[in-house]
Amino acid sequence: MEKPAITDYPIHDLIARRWSPRSFDARPLSDEQVRTLLEAARWAPSCFNEQPWRYLVAGREQKDAFDTMLGCLAEMNQQWAKNAAVLMISVAATQFARNGKPNRHAFHDVGLASAQLTLQATAMDLAVHQMAGFDRDRARQVYAIPDEYEPVAALAIGYPGEPAALPETFRERELAKRSRKSPAQIAYADTWGESL
Ligand SMILES: Cc1cc2nc3c(=O)[nH]c(=O)nc-3n(C[C@H](O)[C@H](O)[C@H](O)COP(=O)(O)O)c2cc1C
Repeated sequence: MEKPAITDYPIHDLIARRWSPRSFDARPLSDEQVRTLLEAARWAPSCFNEQPWRYLVAGREQKDAFDTMLGCLAEMNQQWAKNAAVLMISVAATQFARNGKPNRHAFHDVGLASAQLTLQATAMDLAVHQMAGFDRDRARQVYAIPDEYEPVAALAIGYPGEPAALPETFRERELAKRSRKSPAQIAYADTWGESL
């Protein structure tokens, strides 16, 4: 299903077409496709070019590995993310490699990398649904993530499926209108809160 953004101003088709479905069809992703998505993430900009992003990756074909990652997701997310072709967990390096100081831009830069991955996926007719709903401690333990790295978000990736394939609660949300704050609510001029 397509659910393009209804925009106030024209934007690039890729940005308008990107959305976060919960229904995924059964088609798997090739190794090449997964590596292309990660390549898009790899070329994101970052503070001091530190590239603080890391990705844990599990394809549905590798059942044990996939189930292990699925088990890190919140129950609610597991219900639909189990049909994704690939699951990922993004992780941030929280210290600068150059001097060991805290990198307060790490999450920002991981978000940039995931945004690039997501738009690359859209260009490949794939969909990405990102999730805050996962157990960070469990992920840290299962994957032996070192202390100086912080799990950021989980990602469900695959070909979008039909809303009809979803249980009722998710189906409603799948079909719901997409909404955003108005342009005036997000951009200010001169003083805080004064719309541009
Ligand atoms: C960091 C982040 C965390 C999210 N966490 C969840 C989640 O745990 N479960 C879920 O169903 N959707 C989650 N979402 C999806 C958002 O609800 C969705 O992006 C938002 O409603 C806008 O819809 P759109 O992506 O289709 O434009 C998350 C999105 C992001 C970027």
